[in-house]
Amino acid sequence: MPETRSIVVLTGAGISRESGLHTFRDADGIWATVKVEDVATPEAFARDPVRVQEFYNERRRGLANTGIAPNPAHLALAEFEAAFAGDFLLVTQNIDDLHERAGSRELIHMHGELAKARCEACDDVGEWREDLYIDTACPACTQVGDMRPHVVWFGEMPFEMDRIYAALEGCDLFVSIGTSGNVYPAAGFVQAARMAGARTVELNLEPSEGATLFEEAVYGPAGTVVPGWFAKLATD
Ligand code: APR
Repeated sequence: MPETRSIVVLTGAGISRESGLHTFRDADGIWATVKVEDVATPEAFARDPVRVQEFYNERRRGLANTGIAPNPAHLALAEFEAAFAGDFLLVTQNIDDLHERAGSRELIHMHGELAKARCEACDDVGEWREDLYIDTACPACTQVGDMRPHVVWFGEMPFEMDRIYAALEGCDLFVSIGTSGNVYPAAGFVQAARMAGARTVELNLEPSEGATLFEEAVYGPAGTVVPGWFAKLATD
């Protein structure tokens, strides 16, 4: 096996499932109980901002629950990154903070962060762990009525795409963990990695939509599969 010098890891909701956070498209997922178009689009926010703020307030409160903590999969990624001498970038679709709490450092939240809020009047982005209301004043410009979750909604551009594609074009290993491969642009990252000649691996509970695009796959719960797979990579 040629030496691995540059790794990009993509994670989705599946990596946080064993920490007690629901995924989106599993039978007990978030989209089984609420519709995307009602709570996760700019149009929904314009139409019913109270409902959208409450949807994220409930999820933000859930994240503050002491029972929600990084699981062995999050910890294994942080441990591997700390010991890896090459380039390592973790791109997550998740808006929870479990990767940073596990110690991951080179981390991009391409779909934003539940624990941050953004002012649409002055673009200030800051940590926000309490409820957000339509009359919450911006801590930076004091404007009232322009605060929103710092989360990417359907129809909006994910964050740091240039940095992500630059990393994919230069990587020799791409590992996708706990994502159904349903949502672009993340679902297309494996093709960019293949174009770069990278080794591509899927670690998931079950084959994703893009399973056939990966050269290798290990199926099972992330909390079990990920630590073992990265421990072996570290000794390769
Ligand atoms: N370990 C590993 N994988 C798991 C586990 C587990 N314990 N439990 C579930 N999975 C897998 C499922 O099999 C599925 O393939 O995680 C994936 C979760 O898929 P989704 O629910 O579609 O979540 P995700 O792929 O992250 O969604 C992408 O869609 O709704 C938007 O913005 C939202 O970031 C999200 C994006």
